[in-house]
Amino acid sequence: MKYKTIIEPFRIKAVEPIKHTTREQRAAAIQAAGYNVFLLKAEDVLIDLLTDSGTGAMSSQQWAGMMRGDESYAGARSFFEFESAVRDITGFKHVIPTHQGRAAERILFSNIAKSGDIVPNNTHFDTTRANVEHQGATALDVPIPEGRQPQLFHKFKGNIDLGRLELIIQENVERIPLVMITVTNNSGGGQPVSMENIRQASAICRRFGIPIFLDACRFAENSWFIKLREEGYSDKTPFEIAQEMFSYVDGCTMSAKKDGMSNIGGFLALNDDALSQKCKNTLIMTEGFPTYGGLAGYDLEAIAIGIRESLEEDYLRYRIRSVEYLGKILTNEGVPIVHPPGGHAIYIDALGMLPHIPQSQYPAWALSLALYLEGGIRSVEIGSVMFGRQPDGSEKPSAMELVRLAFPRRVYTQSHVDYLAEVICYVNAIRHDIRGVEIVQAPAVLRHFSAQFRYNIFFTS
Ligand code: F0G
Repeated sequence: MKYKTIIEPFRIKAVEPIKHTTREQRAAAIQAAGYNVFLLKAEDVLIDLLTDSGTGAMSSQQWAGMMRGDESYAGARSFFEFESAVRDITGFKHVIPTHQGRAAERILFSNIAKSGDIVPNNTHFDTTRANVEHQGATALDVPIPEGRQPQLFHKFKGNIDLGRLELIIQENVERIPLVMITVTNNSGGGQPVSMENIRQASAICRRFGIPIFLDACRFAENSWFIKLREEGYSDKTPFEIAQEMFSYVDGCTMSAKKDGMSNIGGFLALNDDALSQKCKNTLIMTEGFPTYGGLAGYDLEAIAIGIRESLEEDYLRYRIRSVEYLGKILTNEGVPIVHPPGGHAIYIDALGMLPHIPQSQYPAWALSLALYLEGGIRSVEIGSVMFGRQPDGSEKPSAMELVRLAFPRRVYTQSHVDYLAEVICYVNAIRHDIRGVEIVQAPAVLRHFSAQFRYNIFFTS
């Protein structure tokens, strides 16, 4: 191409104001929120990178589709649009709509896992882990060792450790109801999984007769990385690559709030007739009739259109580039981040930035508070607050202490990213003033959503 600049491949039709606040206002807001960014009012946030889930901007085509939504209780046209979009990409026989990804996880695991079982995954997302553990089963993370070293460059850092996987299966074959691979590996840094890794993991599982599923939330971004980085895929379209990825597995759970480009929704898709029937029974009991799941007809339309848009090359090129752009600036300025940048997010290595804060004082949580205080940026801790509490109530420091800056899809522009970079570099410059936090009160599971903290706000000149 003649020009190097990769632009946002859209123009903006509706705008939503965002509000500047002073540091004093933010100090008061975060104190009122118990020093937990999940408990802030969104209107007190300037740039919201808490999550890329359900926060994207829909296209004019999706909004038009929503007006066409068929709200019939059973057999709605919108369901068949949805089913055919999902089937085109995944090839799975049964497509079960759910209100979001974790509902698909709950339905799957409540029908497939029992007490004493083990579920290996490259890295479980927190709701996936909680749903496995809720069954009394063990959620076992089996990433490649490179995936746990934030500074190390590896093209497919999200890969599952095939050697360990095979060993775990050999030793526990009766106790493994399924193996899962999360694409991209969110908790491990938004890192992609190679086609080769999926193919080989699938071959191992097939040899032992164990089903393998994808947690497919960011399958389109994973497809783009395969196109860019894996030999033999540069001439394939993201659509073809996605089809091949799904061809190696028996089913998937999906949050359509990510690469479904929608504000709500998800699905469970699979080939096994008997398991699908069981899952549909649970669906009827807890979500809704199988042709709408937990969704309105207009949501199904939005997903049917959005999931195809997520595979458009111009979109994926811009998407991955905007994350990489922030990564480059931060790296040049000496901010330690997970390398290479992930698909949907930049992960700051809080242990690298704040070595003076011990893991027992949650350095990544402290950094997320500093980013809010200094620049109105909302991020999320992926560290010992999220993962440190064990099912038996004990505390174990997380392998990494990361702060994730997740990019909503099609929402922010390059100048927002430039501002972000400026704030993060400032926080890096004053890092010696940042102090740790202490948990005052927390629920037993998924504590990061509602825990309250003690934190001494630092003062900078
Ligand atoms: N799996 C992965 C890899 C996820 O990232 C998420 C959600 C889920 C499953 C659950 O899907 O939210 O629709 O129920 N991740 C969001 C995040 C919340 O911020 O990363 P859900």
